[in-house]
Amino acid sequence: MIFTVAIDGPAAAGKGTISRAVAARFGFRHLDTGLLYRVVGVKGGDPAEAARSLAPGDLLRDDLRTLEAGQAASRVAALPEVRKALVDFQRRFARAEGGAVLDGRDIGTVICPEAEVKLYVTASPEVRAHRRWLEVGGDEARVLAEVKERDARDMGRADAPLKAAADAVVIDTSAMGIDEAVGTACAVVERKLVKGAQAGRT
Ligand code: DC
Repeated sequence: MIFTVAIDGPAAAGKGTISRAVAARFGFRHLDTGLLYRVVGVKGGDPAEAARSLAPGDLLRDDLRTLEAGQAASRVAALPEVRKALVDFQRRFARAEGGAVLDGRDIGTVICPEAEVKLYVTASPEVRAHRRWLEVGGDEARVLAEVKERDARDMGRADAPLKAAADAVVIDTSAMGIDEAVGTACAVVERKLVKGAQAGRT
């Protein structure tokens, strides 16, 4: 079965948690596409060359989750040559046999517009900054400023800007706990799988 769940949205909206839970629930593979851009951002040197030479082992680096790596990723992600170099890997992952969940910024709009399920997971900047601050600590006002700066760059870039696909289901997690957010996402996937199975029988 080829079945893609595309999960897009801004930083710290809950995409990662939801993606891992959906993948575990349905036995799908999961790719956190932000990690690809984080590797390119922290590698240094020519970003396009770093993207072209990216190896699976790079995703295991232990310096990818910092605020700095997120900002570096957001900067290199605005470069069309970098995005182009990462497209094929993501498309192959999305359409390989067995079902896949990909989370990022442009999965439902650019990487896999044919995805069977598209979710756009969002929350207010304040809520997202508070969640990120609980993880990384430091000065909460600075974390909020970073979140807003990254939103502006990711939504404002010319190539594959962050936006909800026209046919995406929007999940606003501002006032939701993890269980409710995961339950909402799983229900959307379940409905689509059931519909697909019914269509296959008719
Ligand atoms: O999801 P994340 O915070 O790890 O992503 C880091 C940055 O990478 C994000 O600010 C923008 C960029 N990114 C992107 O442009 N497209 C994706 N599909 C995933 C991430």
